[in-house]
Amino acid sequence: MIPYGRQSVNEDDIAAVAEVLRGDWLTTGPAVTRFEEAIADYAGAARAVSCTSGTAALHIAYAAAGVSTGDEVITTPMTFAATATSAMVLGAKVTFADIDEGTALIDVDQVNSLISDSTAVVAGVDYAGQPIDIDALNESAHAHGALTVQDAAHSIGSTLDGRPVGSMADLTTFSFFPTKNMTTAEGGAVTTNDALLGQRAHEFHFIGLVRDRDRMRYPDEGPWHQEVHEPGLNYRLSDVHAALGISQLSRLEGFKKRRAEIFSRYQSELAAVDGVRIHTVREGADPIWHLYPVRILDGRRREVFEKMRESGIGVQVNYIPVYWHPAFEDLGYRRGMCPNAERFYSEEISLPLYADLTDDQQTQVIEALIDALR
Ligand SMILES: Cc1ncc(COP(=O)(O)O)c(C=O)c1O
Repeated sequence: MIPYGRQSVNEDDIAAVAEVLRGDWLTTGPAVTRFEEAIADYAGAARAVSCTSGTAALHIAYAAAGVSTGDEVITTPMTFAATATSAMVLGAKVTFADIDEGTALIDVDQVNSLISDSTAVVAGVDYAGQPIDIDALNESAHAHGALTVQDAAHSIGSTLDGRPVGSMADLTTFSFFPTKNMTTAEGGAVTTNDALLGQRAHEFHFIGLVRDRDRMRYPDEGPWHQEVHEPGLNYRLSDVHAALGISQLSRLEGFKKRRAEIFSRYQSELAAVDGVRIHTVREGADPIWHLYPVRILDGRRREVFEKMRESGIGVQVNYIPVYWHPAFEDLGYRRGMCPNAERFYSEEISLPLYADLTDDQQTQVIEALIDALR
């Protein structure tokens, strides 16, 4: 089976991990610090906090933003459930804004029609790797005293008008799951340019421990002293994972180039194929393509999906509209709320896209799709 996504791990990656395993620090050590500095530098942010997954990164970002019981978080239904559920576990009420039907990105007009002074966060998702309209979302959120979270699980390495993803929203979250653009096995990160948000993110992912003597309530307790001011969790990434991340980050530009070649070939070869519609690319965006979403028209998505799986192509569907999940249905969310997202879902298939996909494998995918459409 040709999978829809997979990691690319080479001997340098393996050597970097082995070196940490032979050293003194398996966690809370220098590889974590170097990884966080490298991510912040690459993403154009003042600070990066590494963590155990993209889901953890979202939980940390919402917590750092102060989301709590009764606050509203506006987000997109065209995402992995974690974008919404990680806000729900903090007690937020999640409101879904529909998507632009061509790019599948959160529609700013929809956000503007929903936002109010009870909105704490507007969270967009860089679907497939393409950045959201973050300038408009920042403007809208800040006018209501809210913050923006950019879920960039798909888009480390993307830029918008020359600015790196990770530098534009109040808080940006990344995932380093193996199918993503780079991997630490499991892992994630939060970036921000705001020192206070960065410190809050760090403390939440480190059990809430305050170690800065100037901020302590009992600074004279003794040299061992540390305090918890707000509860947090242990979401620390280990040095073993961080070492893999440092090595993978040094390869990211190469991954981006290869992903772009594969994406362009799909776009040009599928543009003229009857029964499909290719993805819309925004002006100003230079995405690292994480997914290749293609729309299968005429109600044939399921049939084409099943035929492709039978012929050994590991296609995927990204995503079931989040509010269709029973956890949301049980709270009263109903189908029909976001028609663009539901239509996009009903037509979408993700074709294999990863750095090590060969030209011959891509030919096999395209032929299998054309066969399935016959
Ligand atoms: C858009 C989006 N957000 C969040 C996540 C969560 O990331 P992780 O799997 O690392 O927890 C994912 C990963 O599947 C994702 O695709």
